[in-house]
Amino acid sequence: MADNTKQQVREFYDEIGWQKEADGLYQNAHYEDLRPVSREYIHNTRLRVNDHLLPHGDLLLDAGSGPVQYDEYLTYSQGYQKRVCADISIQALREARTRIGDHGLFVVCDVAKLPFKPDAFDGIVSMHTIHHLPADEHKVAYAELYRVLKPARVAVVVNGWTNSTFDALAKFLNRTRRFLRGKPLKVQPHEEKGTYVRKTNAKWLRQELGDSIRVEIYAWRSASTRTLRTFIHEKLGGRAILRWLYKMEAKHPKFFGENGQYPIIVFKK
Ligand SMILES: C[S@@+](CC[C@H](N)C(=O)[O-])C[C@H]1O[C@@H](n2cnc3c(N)ncnc32)[C@H](O)[C@@H]1O
Repeated sequence: MADNTKQQVREFYDEIGWQKEADGLYQNAHYEDLRPVSREYIHNTRLRVNDHLLPHGDLLLDAGSGPVQYDEYLTYSQGYQKRVCADISIQALREARTRIGDHGLFVVCDVAKLPFKPDAFDGIVSMHTIHHLPADEHKVAYAELYRVLKPARVAVVVNGWTNSTFDALAKFLNRTRRFLRGKPLKVQPHEEKGTYVRKTNAKWLRQELGDSIRVEIYAWRSASTRTLRTFIHEKLGGRAILRWLYKMEAKHPKFFGENGQYPIIVFKK
């Protein structure tokens, strides 16, 4: 079952996710809210990884790198000699090589079975990747990241939660609006429908990892793409709302990390 799932995920990214569409963007980029009204918020949330990652080192592992598609992602390895892009999709790595050239090393592999020796990396990022594994392999993937991380260094994982409090609140607000006005704001389809995704929640993750890996959970981005597309609009003060939200996430990172849509999960070795 697991191998079949991974095969499907790999084929999806090779044949669809990392192929460019008519507008020049990867198919995968269309799961993001690309509208100008959300741009500043999205930019700033991507940069949050740098608040946790150690800025310098020899090797940075990017586990499930994709093509390193956004400019903000380049900043993670600025202070590192090399960025090791590891991905199950060869198409992802072809594109990553075009993007970062000699700064990168490119390895086709499974994040749940990394072909690296223990303590190999000075830093690790893994963005939106572990959720593509079956639930019973999430712990294995975390254990693999932990194994290849050097002592006293930091790993940063960004993933989505399932049915986050924030998402539930957004759905409730939309239903209330529909009831009060009889004119609903259109709910946009959820992102990440393209291939297998198994999201979890903070309680599950802590139970699953137990004492073996002690994670800290902070805010990355509370609002899902669907919530942004539904509620955030230029004419409805969308930019101001997102500036406020960003400040709230910075002020209460643990609350928004557990209850928002996307956490930053940090662990040290
Ligand atoms: C949603 S994309 C995210 C890519 C990139 N990290 C980003 O944030 O733009 C997920 C990536 O994880 C890769 N992936 C999925 N399952 C994987 C696995 N078991 N091992 C390694 N990579 C995997 C996919 O091929 C894809 O490139």
